[in-house]
Amino acid sequence: NKVVLAYSGGVDTSVCIPYLKNEWGVKEVITLAADLGQGEELAPIQEKALKCGAVESLVENATEEFVTNYAFPAIKANALYENRYPLSTALARPLIAKLLVEAAEKYGADAVAHGCTGKGNDQVRFDLGITALNPNLKILAPAREWGMSREETIAYGEKFGIESPVKKSSPYSIDRNLLGRSIEAGPLEDPMTEPPEEIYALTKSITDAPNEPQYVEITFEKGIPVAVDGEALSPVALITKLNEIAGNHGVGRLDMIENRVVGIKSREIYEAPALLVLIKAHEDLESLTLTSDVTHYKRAQIDLMYTRLVYEGLWYSPLKSALDAFIDQTQDRVSGVVRIKFFKGNATIVGRKSHYSLYSPDLSTYGSDDKFDHKAAEGFIYIWGLSSRVWAEKTRL
Ligand code: ARG
Ligand code: SIN
Repeated sequence: NKVVLAYSGGVDTSVCIPYLKNEWGVKEVITLAADLGQGEELAPIQEKALKCGAVESLVENATEEFVTNYAFPAIKANALYENRYPLSTALARPLIAKLLVEAAEKYGADAVAHGCTGKGNDQVRFDLGITALNPNLKILAPAREWGMSREETIAYGEKFGIESPVKKSSPYSIDRNLLGRSIEAGPLEDPMTEPPEEIYALTKSITDAPNEPQYVEITFEKGIPVAVDGEALSPVALITKLNEIAGNHGVGRLDMIENRVVGIKSREIYEAPALLVLIKAHEDLESLTLTSDVTHYKRAQIDLMYTRLVYEGLWYSPLKSALDAFIDQTQDRVSGVVRIKFFKGNATIVGRKSHYSLYSPDLSTYGSDDKFDHKAAEGFIYIWGLSSRVWAEKTRL
């Protein structure tokens, strides 16, 4: 009867409004557009929803919450899906799901809706997020069921006065927020085709990047980035600034074939300058401040599982909460400064320091002030290799 719809202003979510009302008999559609720092004016989108027939059109600014509660935990987890994708789109979905559920509860709606297709990851993330936060809400996904092609969707919209905004010049599907852009479809569907320069908006090409390197120092406190070149910045300001610096030097692009939850391989182009740099810097600071066993265990077990859960839509889940607790426990001393050299498409870490550094010059030096007991190594190696020795002696018989 009353539905809250996740609304982006695009054709699909716009067509969802008359479709829900006319085909599925929904009485009232309330739209919700989330501002996650996509750098887009939301007032026109708000108006457009009303024109398409929404009774109410909500806009929520959640950028600060997005960075603080979704991006920063992912940085602490060094979250790179399939070792590369920093989850810039995936992290937005649980937050939008939460905003949808809150609005549904506030306005007494019995269902929430989204415009995702049945082929993507995003439907999984929305549906699982919504269910985990309020299992009593019905989830409507018209685009998963209407079986209309792109052309038919546009034609359907035109019947209800929804002008087709898809300019023939842009065949791409683009998702955008403060953390980055995800670009797919059109000519990119051929994995052998090089992405054309025009698809990028946050990063310069290496050719156009400055010919002089730039050094930047990022300060972390308990695993969270708090300052750039000694200047304390709010979470949103920090991401914005690093997006600019890294993007200017051509840092932050990815071109990858990725395994979606639904079994499809897709070709996706990403721009996520700040996030990629921050994960790299954070990981480096962990190498300096965590013990060897915690570092290895966290990376091989915890970070990997965390990343997979987030990609696969299980942000709100008991396992994810337990992993968060583990990660937070390890971040107590992940404080310090990482120095980065930006130059021609590279962000190279060239220095790091921490009050909690476990790097011990006394032990690692090859100079005369060496405190390491060299003789102790011999007995250690004998015992460490004992089982191999026994095996080797048997094998040689
Ligand atoms: N493949 C990415 C993910 O699963 C991005 C999905 C949205 N991409 C897009 N071009 N609309 O997080
Ligand atoms: C979608 O179908 O919603 C976009 C692609 C994806 O979610 O992976």
